[in-house]
Amino acid sequence: MERGSVTRNAADAARVTAGYDVLLVGELLVELSAPTPLRDARRFDLSFSGDTLNAAAAAAAGGARVGVIAAVGDDELGEALLAYLKERDIDTSLIRLVNRPNGLYLLGADPDGAREFVYLRRESAGSLLRPADVDSDAVRASRALVVTGIACAISDTAAAAVRHAAKLMRQQGRLVIYDPNFRRKLMTPRAARDAFAAMVPMSTIVKPSWPNDSRALFGDAGPAQAAAAARQAGAAIALVTLGKQGALVDDGSSVVHYPPVPAPAAVDATGSGDTLAGMLAARLALGDDIASALRIAMTAAALSLSGQGGSGRVASLAEIRAHLGRTDRSQTDSGSEHAAHLPSSHGGHDQEANPR
Ligand SMILES: Nc1ncnc2c1ncn2[C@@H]1O[C@H](COP(=O)(O)OP(=O)(O)OP(=O)(O)O)[C@@H](O)[C@H]1O
Ligand SMILES: [Mg+2]
Repeated sequence: MERGSVTRNAADAARVTAGYDVLLVGELLVELSAPTPLRDARRFDLSFSGDTLNAAAAAAAGGARVGVIAAVGDDELGEALLAYLKERDIDTSLIRLVNRPNGLYLLGADPDGAREFVYLRRESAGSLLRPADVDSDAVRASRALVVTGIACAISDTAAAAVRHAAKLMRQQGRLVIYDPNFRRKLMTPRAARDAFAAMVPMSTIVKPSWPNDSRALFGDAGPAQAAAAARQAGAAIALVTLGKQGALVDDGSSVVHYPPVPAPAAVDATGSGDTLAGMLAARLALGDDIASALRIAMTAAALSLSGQGGSGRVASLAEIRAHLGRTDRSQTDSGSEHAAHLPSSHGGHDQEANPR
């Protein structure tokens, strides 16, 4: 591949033309993580993350053919980033190399759950993503698209690229998942609301987290109210994730609460929502119904908590099914069900404080 352009061999070209089960358009980041709070950190581990990368890794683990459209710095770290993607069976043929450093974020231990990342991403390689990077043939041939509010916030050209890809997908009647991923240091609530309003008409499933994303988008609503607000804004399906309380799905005919899948070890919650989005896209693209796809995606998210960093632990489908089997058996033994119906206006559940 040469700087500033995408050159492909015949095998790459064939993959691109065939399209992907899951295509992602967004930002890839270098990750430096320390085992201590950042203020005490002396040594860091180098890895790679960003919401798009985390979701792509989960989708590939879910059995999907995965491609990513992004801009990556043409340097040693960029090479390592591409190698990291390839090791995880993520196709890099659509990634454009550019003469800028990759965005970076620093992650420290977070014993009291009050994490704020430190980012160095202003004018990064990733922000050079632009509509011309979106290969129309690849998009048209793909089954599902995952895009996020972070890509909409890193630059105007990246936001335009996301909108262009989502519009093409919707014209084909294909699945588009939009994760608002509100980040206080990257965007104002107003900008998050504007991006949401632009993306909802092009999305099949919108996936805000509660309370982080939902507070920026809808104010102090409970989960069911947040889902209703997302539906009112035009989302066909609102999927509100609730951290350790599971998730809520409002498809207009019912509001269903999916209880959490227990996490065997909670080392680090970074990337759990991205993992859920990527795995959900993969399983829906491969033909699962939404209830089965979401249970698998929630299990992938729960297992991702046992690794440090955004993509530090990517569970295989076999591991996910084994964990889900154990969980189902213990829930059957205790008489609880997978999905419980909640009233669509708020009940006791959405009044609970966020325990994270
Ligand atoms: N402690 C936990 N135990 C079990 N599952 C969890 C836990 N934390 C998160 N999850 C799973 O991960 C999913 C996504 O988590 P969450 O709602 O925190 O979204 P998020 O996108 O990671 O948050 P944000 O983007 O606001 O940081 C949840 O719906 C749940 O399935
Ligand atoms: Mg999120």
